[in-house]
Amino acid sequence: MNIALFASGTGSNVYNIIQYFKSNHLINVVAVLSNKSNAGALNHAKNAGIPSLTFSKKDFTSAITVEEFLAERKVDLIVLAGFLLKVPESLIDLYPNKIINIHPALLPNYGGKGMYGMHVHNAVIAAQEKKSGITIHLVNENYDDGATIAQFECGLNAQDTPQSLAQKVSGLEKSHFPRTIEEYILKIK
Ligand code: GRF
Repeated sequence: MNIALFASGTGSNVYNIIQYFKSNHLINVVAVLSNKSNAGALNHAKNAGIPSLTFSKKDFTSAITVEEFLAERKVDLIVLAGFLLKVPESLIDLYPNKIINIHPALLPNYGGKGMYGMHVHNAVIAAQEKKSGITIHLVNENYDDGATIAQFECGLNAQDTPQSLAQKVSGLEKSHFPRTIEEYILKIK
């Protein structure tokens, strides 16, 4: 079973997922793709000897290059791990129920266009929420709108800041995202 990771940024999730599946003989991370040539995620791929592809937003809209790259590597599941572009419908049609995303809040709250990274944590803290967390969900043609696969929560108190919340969320992502991916891919194989 082959997984392709899409990331636009630092890639802490990409790193965690690569490490998690390193010695797995059934499930392999076969590619890391990014729309940012300087994405930290691409360094993690390089260090792990995993092929990568950088594409422009324009390329991605036509999707052909990306689709060919994925087909060559016989990708079974696409995982968005901090990827900030909307996925073209042509790719969603090619991978039905086989594109998953992680969002750093408890959807449907604090999701949608523009709600990523610290924007999410700032909004959650400003609203004085008592809890937040992560949502792992299927990807459809809208931002953060597909069926939920799993959610994991963290409690918040008056001392929490957007930064302390980001730390708690990062901890949840490390603990739960790779395992949830494994459970999901075994279910759909
Ligand atoms: C994570 O918070 C993830 O939930 C969101 O984007 C962020 C990516 O962080 N989708 P990183 O690049 O994996 O460190």
